[in-house]
Amino acid sequence: MNAYLKTFLVASIGVALVSVAIQVVTIQYSSEISKVLHAYPSLNMTSETLKSAFPIQKLLLSLNKYFPSIRNLPFLQPVPESSASTKSKKVKEKLFTSEQLKKFDGKDESKGPYLSILGRVYNVRKGKKHYGPGGGYEFFSGRDASRSFVSGDFSEAGLVDDVSGLSGSDYIGLDEWVKFYDSDYKYIGKLIGRYYDKNGEPTPFYYETQKWISEAYAKKEKDNVEKKIFPPCNSEWNPESGSRLWCTKRSGGIERDWVGVPRKLFIPGQSNSRCACVKNFGPPSHDPKRVTHNDRGDLDHPNLQEYANCAPHQPECFVKTD
Ligand code: HEM
Repeated sequence: MNAYLKTFLVASIGVALVSVAIQVVTIQYSSEISKVLHAYPSLNMTSETLKSAFPIQKLLLSLNKYFPSIRNLPFLQPVPESSASTKSKKVKEKLFTSEQLKKFDGKDESKGPYLSILGRVYNVRKGKKHYGPGGGYEFFSGRDASRSFVSGDFSEAGLVDDVSGLSGSDYIGLDEWVKFYDSDYKYIGKLIGRYYDKNGEPTPFYYETQKWISEAYAKKEKDNVEKKIFPPCNSEWNPESGSRLWCTKRSGGIERDWVGVPRKLFIPGQSNSRCACVKNFGPPSHDPKRVTHNDRGDLDHPNLQEYANCAPHQPECFVKTD
């Protein structure tokens, strides 16, 4: 073996031994090194920045080719950019018991006030002229009084979180209050109780309430469609002539290009009727493209009835008793 080859072999063995020694040391202390790096958020960087910032990391990453296990060292793992940036932005949601929330009724200047609606807790400090001591709505603070947001019953008996058995418009009203607090105040967390369990998970009552709210919106949508076909009549009443019902191109909040004639409209499932202006020419509204029709519009709809003593083709009708 010539001298040149000997020197090369010794040098290679030397490099290999040094590399193995570095790998052993870094594996041994990797968790400690990692802890130090993660303890300082500014050092919690990607492997790309690590390479340029720390020569030892740079060296280790370059040895990756020969010792692939180096890549698996925790402190050489890239930190996903998204989680690193969202971590600081994400507000930690708090969970409150009703006892804890009570402390945020605004009486203690340093706390809140907070209020809860459908189990969602908001910091209403910027509206403390309303929610703080002496404010017109201070009774909402430190509790969940969801029902009274739509019942308007601000007595102790009325300031409750149970929203069962309300009307469709009340459920929509409640949902609008939640949207109002979402947009105008800071959301803090959840109240453990009727709407959320101790882990902050929605309760069966929460889902039931959401169902009532969506049913209310669906019904409103259906009513709006019906109101477009059968707009409510204009009406006035006086003791001598009774009720005057009449149709114009704008009645019941519906604007249209026809006037129509007044009819009693019976809504399935409801005992009473209401006055509707009914289109009295052209095809029926449910089939507007029909070519062959008797030019009576919706007059033949089965839920309609003529008013007694009223001219069936006049846009106005006087009803003595109804
Ligand atoms: C169900 C009935 C009612 C409820 C639940 C209710 C609730 C509220 C709430 C929570 C606020 C504070 C809103 C905020 O954070 O900015 C407020 C403000 C106010 N409410 Fe009511 N309210 C009701 C009925 C009424 C009625 C009938 C009137 C008037 C006759 C009224 C007049 C006012 C006024 C003037 C403000 C202050 C608006 C402002 O300064 O920005 N409220 N209401």
